[in-house]
Amino acid sequence: MRAVFWFEQNLKYCCFTLFETIRAESDMAKVLIVYDSHSGNTEKMAHAIAEGVKEKKVKVHVKKVNTTSIEDLVDHDAIIIGSPTYYGQMSGKLKELIDKSVKVHGKLEGKVGAAFTSSGGTATGAETTLLSILQAMLVHGMIVQGRSDSKHYGPAAVESPNKKDVEDCRRLGKRVAALVLKLAK
Ligand SMILES: Cc1cc2nc3c(=O)[nH]c(=O)nc-3n(C[C@H](O)[C@H](O)[C@H](O)COP(=O)(O)O)c2cc1C
Repeated sequence: MRAVFWFEQNLKYCCFTLFETIRAESDMAKVLIVYDSHSGNTEKMAHAIAEGVKEKKVKVHVKKVNTTSIEDLVDHDAIIIGSPTYYGQMSGKLKELIDKSVKVHGKLEGKVGAAFTSSGGTATGAETTLLSILQAMLVHGMIVQGRSDSKHYGPAAVESPNKKDVEDCRRLGKRVAALVLKLAK
């Protein structure tokens, strides 16, 4: 009889712990990094940003644009979008995703947004590319934090990111995660 009672109590405790763990997981802040990349430069930046997010113990998913759904955007607290600079704008694939996001217009309101890019040169369209992404985020009612000391609109690398660019990316990830946590309070 005592053994049955003991078993029941332990079973209840296990179920409760499991339930709490699942609840805590689903309550956890989540950051999505969506990127397009043909030759891998923007992709390297995406992974460096993810490292920064993880430093704040925030969950992060890194996804290539063609595997990203509109539901993925809705499902995260922050969306960081990275594109190669294509004629001074985001790539067509990313613009297509943003245009599709009209289906969830209003549901991205209040989420944190940020952008990054890799271009072929300096002052050859990187900033306009970043702004093309940030503009769409503002139309969605998202919250975009600038940076006062350098790279005001977001990290921009010339071709493959160098050490300084990687640091800028990591720092962006950390800042976005910190803002998400602050907003969740
Ligand atoms: C279609 C196309 C358009 C591009 N337009 C620009 C441009 O306007 N300015 C620029 O600096 N680089 C431009 N580039 C170069 C890419 O932005 C650059 O190589 C970048 O590092 C590629 O990133 P990825 O390796 O992530 O694909 C262009 C490249 C392509 C393929």
